[in-house]
Amino acid sequence: MTVFIHLTDLHIGDPALGIPAPGEIEIGDPRPMTDTSARLSMALEKIAAMDADPSFILVTGDLSNYGELASYRALKGLMDPVTLPVVYTLGNHDDPAHAAEGVLGRAGDDGPWDADQVIDGVHIIALDTSVPGRVGGALTEAQFDFLAEALGRSPDLPKLLMFHHPPTMDTDTPEFERLRTEDSQKLGEMIRGSGVRAILCGHIHQSRVTLWHGIPVVVTAGLHAAIDPLSPAGTQRFNSGATVAVCTLDDQVFSVNYVSLPVDVVDLLEITDAQIAEYEATLEDA
Ligand SMILES: [Fe+2]
Repeated sequence: MTVFIHLTDLHIGDPALGIPAPGEIEIGDPRPMTDTSARLSMALEKIAAMDADPSFILVTGDLSNYGELASYRALKGLMDPVTLPVVYTLGNHDDPAHAAEGVLGRAGDDGPWDADQVIDGVHIIALDTSVPGRVGGALTEAQFDFLAEALGRSPDLPKLLMFHHPPTMDTDTPEFERLRTEDSQKLGEMIRGSGVRAILCGHIHQSRVTLWHGIPVVVTAGLHAAIDPLSPAGTQRFNSGATVAVCTLDDQVFSVNYVSLPVDVVDLLEITDAQIAEYEATLEDA
């Protein structure tokens, strides 16, 4: 049996910027809405104290809140004591070049952060679904080629796929919340019968498991903030909840325990889908 940890949406900030008071929070603020560095430290302490030894940690993007080099350097400092293998991929809040330099020490590398490796008998495939200037996600033809090759390797090992944006499982969901529809369809066709046991995602700041093409898509709300799944239609209500997923995998079973961090949960911000679309337009113009 393999135990592993899913972390997502760390949204680490530049320590020099601080954190806004709940009443000051606005969409697009470079500052994270909560003390995300403290939350990551809290999560790592809990992981280190677990009786069941996890084999690895998967981190599915939005490593930084605003993509500054200083935020990735802060993240590296927080992760330095971790002795478990950690696999990262990026989200829409990330800057690939800054992330590579700050976290991996690879200056001049602007991604994508696709990866394919075996840890403790589990074949892990990471895809970078982030697209500069967009909130939603996409995959390129080159990434599909990378995935096809990776899926052909280690046929006897269980496979985990990890990427930031959940695939399109419901076209009523706004586009900014998901991987592009056509890419999701192609991905779904590729993974059917491929030995993929689970897909790990973040982005929507909600904890949710959906069976898709017979494979569980595990979305974890992450460390920054949670979006209330009962928000009124067309609205996203953020609160300060923080969640980590502890996953278990063996020949017969895949299970997920969502662990809430012991933080004060207060309302932070309510925004409309129209405001997010407006925000996305400012990214495209930048
Ligand atoms: Fe996020």
